Amino acid sequence: MRIIKAVMLTVSASVVTITSALAENLAITEADFNCMLDMQPVRGFYVDNLIEGKLQDTLAVAGAEQGAYPAGSVVQLVPGEVMVKHPAGFSPATKDWEFFELNVSAEGTEIGKRGFVDVVNRFGGNCFACHAQAKPEFDMICETNHGCEPIPLTREMTTLLQKTDPRCGGRYTPTPEEMELLKALTAQLSAASE
Ligand code: HEC
Repeated sequence: MRIIKAVMLTVSASVVTITSALAENLAITEADFNCMLDMQPVRGFYVDNLIEGKLQDTLAVAGAEQGAYPAGSVVQLVPGEVMVKHPAGFSPATKDWEFFELNVSAEGTEIGKRGFVDVVNRFGGNCFACHAQAKPEFDMICETNHGCEPIPLTREMTTLLQKTDPRCGGRYTPTPEEMELLKALTAQLSAASE
C-alpha cells in the first residue's frame, strides 16, 4: 500500500512539473487546432485549453463572461480564426493573446498567419485593433456587445461555418438553403481578399 502511495505521489508530482513547464512556454503548432465542434460551446463561440487539466478554468471565465482567461485558453468563432492565451507577461500589449489565421481543409489545419499586434484577417482587418476595443473586463473577447467594431457575419452564418468546419469529417449535411448561404459567403470572402 505504502509503495503504491509513493508511486502515485511521484506520478502526480511529475504531472505538476509537466503542466508548469508547459505554462512557461506554450509551443503552439498546427497540431493544436482541430475540428471546432470538438471544443466546448459557449454562447455561440467555442473554447478549449491546451494545458492538461486547465479546461475547467477556461470554462469558468467563459461562463462568467468576464475576467482574464487562463494561459492555454483557445477561443474560436469561425474555423479560420483563433486566439490562444500565452502565460502572463508573454505579450503585455495583447494581454498575452496570440492571433492566428488558419487555412482549414479535410486534411487538417495550416497556420496562415500568427502573431500579436500585426495579424490582418481575410477581410483586411487587424485582429488586435478590433479585439483591443473590448472593454477591459472582457479580456479582448468581443462577442456582440463588449465594445468591438462588428464583423460582417451574422450568428446564422457563424453557426453554419462551425457546423461545416471541413476538419469535422462531414458530420453535418447542410440544407440546400445553407449550401446557397455558404456559396455566398465564399464569394464574399474571395472578394474581400482580392
Ligand atoms: C472588424 C473587427 C474585427 C477583426 C478585424 C477581427 N475580429 Fe475577431 N471578432 C470581432 C467581433 C465583433 C467578434 C464577435 C462576433 C460575434 O460574436 O458575432 C469577434 C469574435 C472573435 C472570436 C471569438 C471570441 C470573441 O472575441 O467574441 C475570436 C477567437 C476572434 N474573433 C479572433 C479573431 C482573429 C484571430 C482575427 C484576425 C485574424 C480577428 N478576430 C479579427 C471583431 C473582429
